[in-house]
Amino acid sequence: MGRKKREHVLELYSMPNVFLSPEGIKGNWHERYFKNNNPIIVEVGCGRGEYTVNLGRRHPDQNFVGIDAKGPRLWRGAKTFMDEEMGNGAFICGLVEIITDYFAPGEVDEIWVTFPDPQHKPSREQQRLVSERFLKLYRQVLKPDGLIHLKTDNTVFYEWAIQSFEQNQGVSVLRHTDDVDKAEDLKDIMSIRTKYEMLFREKGETIKYARIALV
Ligand SMILES: C[S@@+](CC[C@H](N)C(=O)[O-])C[C@H]1O[C@@H](n2cnc3c(N)ncnc32)[C@H](O)[C@@H]1O
Repeated sequence: MGRKKREHVLELYSMPNVFLSPEGIKGNWHERYFKNNNPIIVEVGCGRGEYTVNLGRRHPDQNFVGIDAKGPRLWRGAKTFMDEEMGNGAFICGLVEIITDYFAPGEVDEIWVTFPDPQHKPSREQQRLVSERFLKLYRQVLKPDGLIHLKTDNTVFYEWAIQSFEQNQGVSVLRHTDDVDKAEDLKDIMSIRTKYEMLFREKGETIKYARIALV
């Protein structure tokens, strides 16, 4: 690990908007952290947290939490919230697998899954962040009418995701497109671009999107 990355990892321990352990926060985000009752939107596998940060800027009346296992990546997002003195954001440095340790049932309003690792090997299917295994976890923390948004560049992953959503009786697919640039209704929300999105766009990939509800 380079010097900068090491410094950022160490800094995470003292950042007031970064959680390294779930102690005391599950079920208490509104009261103990955000000090309001606004909706909570979670970005899983957030990397540098572009959706968390930019949605936070656009919607001061909503709360945003990014989760990623890689501390040096989410440091960027956490630092931006601090520099801009925005109190409506936080980051969890940890695995999405333990999301239910961090949030109580119904505490989360929406989940964003942004450019998840495709995990192409069939044996890795359950590692995909929108696999049935993860949807079961999301169901435990989402409000009954809560939404999940998926944004990806990967055609194989996207087609697999849509097919598995449609085969899952607990999922309702509300909107999907294999090219967000052609979707006028999505223009505003899709104008936020993540680091991975920029890389894939440079390679000529179209960006795909799906919005589902767990029913
Ligand atoms: C391809 S990157 C995308 C990052 C960011 N969302 C973007 O669009 O730029 C996938 C991210 O998901 C994180 N990730 C993958 N599986 C995870 C898991 N089970 N728990 C926590 N983070 C995970 C990785 O650490 C990585 O930062």
